[in-house]
Amino acid sequence: MGNRESMAERRIDEDDPSELALGSGLYRRARPASEPPSVSNCSSDPELRSEAWGDCATAYELFAEGVTRPFAEDAVRLVKLGTGSRVLDVAAGTGAFALAAARQGAEVLATDFSAEMLSSLDEKCRRLGLTGVTTAEMDGQSLALPDASFDLAASLFGLMFFADHDRGLSELHRVLKPGGRAIVASWASPARVEMMRLLGDATMQAMISLPTAFEPPRWTALADARKLKQRLLGLGFARAHVVSVAHVWTFERAQHLAEILPLATPSSSALFNHLSAEERGRFVAALVDDLQARQGDGPYAVTNEAVIAVATKGAD
Ligand SMILES: C[S@@+](CC[C@H](N)C(=O)[O-])C[C@H]1O[C@@H](n2cnc3c(N)ncnc32)[C@H](O)[C@@H]1O
Repeated sequence: MGNRESMAERRIDEDDPSELALGSGLYRRARPASEPPSVSNCSSDPELRSEAWGDCATAYELFAEGVTRPFAEDAVRLVKLGTGSRVLDVAAGTGAFALAAARQGAEVLATDFSAEMLSSLDEKCRRLGLTGVTTAEMDGQSLALPDASFDLAASLFGLMFFADHDRGLSELHRVLKPGGRAIVASWASPARVEMMRLLGDATMQAMISLPTAFEPPRWTALADARKLKQRLLGLGFARAHVVSVAHVWTFERAQHLAEILPLATPSSSALFNHLSAEERGRFVAALVDDLQARQGDGPYAVTNEAVIAVATKGAD
């Protein structure tokens, strides 16, 4: 157990997942080109489909509460928001950022291409008695919104999944008023996001055959702080800076991770739903064993790092 613990902790610090290609939410073991894929089609970019995100909405809400909410609270502290600030949240999901901005007195339009995600946000606003958040179904790559109409336009852990990142970023720029700010958050490089490592390791320990991923998933394109800054400046923002932030996801039961994580994104749930009952059992046991071997009876702590970019649109 001692050896296993030190290996696991060491791997969190490695920045080069050179032996693994990272799936969209999962590590996948690369196979030799000569070997045929043993599973077909369970990973053909399910993140591009709004229905696939809709199917994840219930698990995602629990995930967001523990995982993305602290980053949303950081994001609002990185900009000035006040009563009446006009804020757009793109790919808002269940609304971690929209809610944090509304609590500062902003008027928030939360958009997403999944109606189920937005219903969950509407329901939460009703439950909390929170006014100030309006929702609208929209593709973040072509926002049905006028130019220069928001003080702040944000996309946290959403735009990174788009088919065309530059279109998503340009749309944020277009809808901002001169001098307005954009916020874009993405997970950091995969080795710095412990939940990804846990999923990848569980997949390998359970000896599940997976489709090959020779390409890193699309979302890793925004994981590098320097490149993200350059991309924002290249698309017309006058200034940009990027901060790195890590938060610890804590929970009491090791099973909590296994109940939420495999179902929180379209790629992980496509994989999970594809597994036989026996493979699922092995996968869940591997996730739970990994945590228990390193952290005993809990509470458990999973450290995830993100990059958050803040960019300013120039005054006309
Ligand atoms: C990982 S969730 C992030 C949700 C939320 N921003 C948060 O921080 O918890 C990704 C969200 O992006 C949305 N999404 C993905 N592609 C989209 C697109 N092209 N247009 C609008 N929303 C999109 C999904 O429906 C999902 O709600």
